[in-house]
Amino acid sequence: MKKLYIAAFVAFAAFASGTHAAERPGHAAIASAHTLATRAGFEVLAEGGNAFDAAIAVASTLSVVEPQSSGIGGGGFFMLHRASDGKNVMLDARETAPAAVRESQYLKPDGTPNRDTALYGPLAAGIPGEPAALVWLAAHYGKLPLAKSLAPAIRIARAGFQPGQGFLDAIAGHREQIARYAGTKALLMPNGDVPKAGWTFRNPDLAATLERIAAHGDDGFYKGKTAQLMLKAVKETGGDWSAADLANYKVVEREPLSFDYRGWKIVTVAPPSSGGVALEEMFNVLSGYDLGAMDRAQRLHYIIEAMRRAFRDHNEYLGDPDFVKMPLATLLSPQYAAGLRASILPDKATPSAMLPSAVAHAPGMHTTHFSIVDADGNMVATTQTVNTHFGSCLVPPGTGVFLNNEMDDFALVPGAPNAYGLLGNKANAPAPGKRMLSSMTPTFVFGPERVGVIGSPGGSTIITQVFEGLLAFMHGDSAAQIAAKPRYHHQYLPDVVYAEPDAFDAATEKALVGMGYDIQQRGHWGFMNVVTWNLRTNKLDAASDPRHASGLGEVR
Ligand code: GLY
Repeated sequence: MKKLYIAAFVAFAAFASGTHAAERPGHAAIASAHTLATRAGFEVLAEGGNAFDAAIAVASTLSVVEPQSSGIGGGGFFMLHRASDGKNVMLDARETAPAAVRESQYLKPDGTPNRDTALYGPLAAGIPGEPAALVWLAAHYGKLPLAKSLAPAIRIARAGFQPGQGFLDAIAGHREQIARYAGTKALLMPNGDVPKAGWTFRNPDLAATLERIAAHGDDGFYKGKTAQLMLKAVKETGGDWSAADLANYKVVEREPLSFDYRGWKIVTVAPPSSGGVALEEMFNVLSGYDLGAMDRAQRLHYIIEAMRRAFRDHNEYLGDPDFVKMPLATLLSPQYAAGLRASILPDKATPSAMLPSAVAHAPGMHTTHFSIVDADGNMVATTQTVNTHFGSCLVPPGTGVFLNNEMDDFALVPGAPNAYGLLGNKANAPAPGKRMLSSMTPTFVFGPERVGVIGSPGGSTIITQVFEGLLAFMHGDSAAQIAAKPRYHHQYLPDVVYAEPDAFDAATEKALVGMGYDIQQRGHWGFMNVVTWNLRTNKLDAASDPRHASGLGEVR
């Protein structure tokens, strides 16, 4: 027993220091939003691939089977943990603004914001980052050639599959925008209307695009035939991308944010995601309270007040680190957290209106997250997106690629809210080649005995989902319990606690209302995919969110 504990501690020290190899789990675990994607990951592991090859397989398969949420026409963030040397790195594959971006493109002739151009069609689309990430992963971290890791996605795109209700509902929700673009309509509404259950969706053009990437790497997407087809469609539908916009796209390896909370080490995304900064700020606030000694309502009070303050801050100051200077050292300092705690009354909610004003977020329900640990202990946490369902709804004919509508994540028009209610600020103003701010928060958590890989889609709720998921993990919950746990969310404005129907028992809700909280039920949200690794027993666990039928978490 003692020996096991020492082994676990050595493994933790290895992870935490990032200098030594970790213990091998001997099995692999994958949790993703689609059964076919999880299986594609295992298929590639069985071919001799590692977690990074499996991530390519899962991401490319999601491109085929869940194009409403993510795909090679979009982007994302990959958190990577390499077992051989303990390296943790953030691979930033966020989209970039084309050089021709102008505020006027997102205004109507009368000068008011044009929400349609911000969300649909070519002006809504940033230059995709996902293909470059897949190429980078294969070249720098994987063991297999790209062609092998992309093979399951290529096969499924050609053979087709029967989409579930979520996919069909997403088509129904965007019927009008899909009908605008011939390439998209031919794929999603081949008979002119929303397909019925039992329909087989095939995307052979996407298979051919993936084959070009497999054969030519970056050039298979950002140059040559795929690039020409995208440039032509973007131009014909009123957009303005140049060949250089595509050819110049680069992924960036960034130092993750890494911080400690009560003996746990959390490794998460840095800007241009706001999620990691918000997480660290919230945990810094909580570090001053003895949560374990409190009743549930009191504990929730401090957790919600930490959320309120982090959300007030995080959009105000954050943007693409290659373009803006951010006061991260101040925001993440213990002194700043102490100041925030000093503003929290022990028995009363702080009205958001009493805090200095800032921008606000509204939740969104798109995007995808998956988690992988392989038999050697390599790990991937990645959240990826085309933004809202089917992104811009523009599929350049001949590519099968759903172009994202990530430009809406910029503060396109000062003072005008985006799809998540985000108002304008300078740090996140668009500029040629700049990355738009994101809430995506793929995260690793390392403890002496357990390691977690966690994330979820859900716009601004991603951050609070991951926060609550980490607290549950630290409390000892299993992967399945973490993924299933009822959720609550506060984001500064609106000054409301959103709650899933079973988030609070009656007595807790009464106590919170007594403190001044406005609690509103708002159905269910999120699609969490979690892997946990118990270093003491060397057991992996994987779970996909029970709120959705399509996902699969599996250990093999
Ligand atoms: N597109 C949503 C996000 O990146 O947060």
